[in-house]
Amino acid sequence: MDFAVQAKNLVKVYNGKVKALDGVDLTVEASGTFALLGPNGAGKTTLMRILTTQLKPSTGEAYVFGLNVTRDGGKVRKLVSYVPQEMSVWTDISGYENLLIYAKIFGIPRLEREKMIDEALDIMGLNNVKGELVRTYSGGMVRRLEIACAMLVKPKIMFLDEPTIGLDPGARKIVWEKLNLFKKEYGVTIFFNTHYMDEADLYADDIAIIDQGKVVARGTSEELKHSVGGEIISFTLENFQSESWLLEEIRRLKLVRGVFMENKDLNILVDDAESSLPCITDFLKSKALSVNRISITKPTLDDVFLKYTGGRLEEKGRISDVRQVRYMIRRG
Ligand SMILES: Nc1ncnc2c1ncn2[C@@H]1O[C@H](COP(=O)(O)OP(=O)(O)OP(=O)(O)O)[C@@H](O)[C@H]1O
Ligand SMILES: [Mg+2]
Repeated sequence: MDFAVQAKNLVKVYNGKVKALDGVDLTVEASGTFALLGPNGAGKTTLMRILTTQLKPSTGEAYVFGLNVTRDGGKVRKLVSYVPQEMSVWTDISGYENLLIYAKIFGIPRLEREKMIDEALDIMGLNNVKGELVRTYSGGMVRRLEIACAMLVKPKIMFLDEPTIGLDPGARKIVWEKLNLFKKEYGVTIFFNTHYMDEADLYADDIAIIDQGKVVARGTSEELKHSVGGEIISFTLENFQSESWLLEEIRRLKLVRGVFMENKDLNILVDDAESSLPCITDFLKSKALSVNRISITKPTLDDVFLKYTGGRLEEKGRISDVRQVRYMIRRG
């Protein structure tokens, strides 16, 4: 198995007192899209900065494509690029000029610069505004320009720290369309973090939740939702009288984990609604109960997040400051 990232008992203590990472073990497969979720201050940025060699871990080890981030820092830097949480382009010059500066910083040979800049502008959909001052760009265009700059090095893995923070739903969607295009063209692994659960749900093949410096949950979106504990099938039945013997019989059915009534609806808790439904409807039919309406309620990734992080999703803190920062960027 080709691992893009491996972290082994990674610990980071700032200034001898703030334990930002508290023994992180993590493997991320190559070529997928990986989401790191967690409340403010959970350690997401710290982990990304260690994996991109900007910070050294206090103890433990981390590898990017098999290279040790501490011992082989120079080689790791050739494989990774990083789009930080903070602003990383200049607003008083054009998008093209930003890319040119980054191309020079990255040491891209003069003869290759134009072609690479053009490709990056193309994929991120910025060709028609490349000559405009960045201060006239929308928030989404600024973010796409930052991603275009990070693309120039043709990384094997791109780390994106809150790629769509503060953007409206339309701009977020475009950022993801462009990122997916980039991924498809270059086969790059994407490692991102976000506070938008819908983005993790839609775009991540694999998710880890980190809380207080520890990985507290791991899996695909579906696996994590299942781990929250079941799905509820609600039946609205014609002429249904809630009788305890009937509820008891339903409770005893295979695959049923619980039964309860709510507003005259019969609610049945199961592990997996799709596979349990035929057996339950057969039972209701056998009791001559006709069903008017069926609905299924599945746990969302929000529920997963709240379960594993103790409900600190909307904690006040630095994230609102970040939103403010990105708001200011949009205004130039
Ligand atoms: N340079 C630093 N010096 C001291 N403490 C720091 C430093 N950077 C981060 N921390 C602390 O380390 C912890 C983890 O911070 P980190 O920025 O990694 O969290 P995060 O998950 O990225 O949070 P957010 O969602 O707010 O961006 C927090 O308690 C934070 O205050
Ligand atoms: Mg952060």
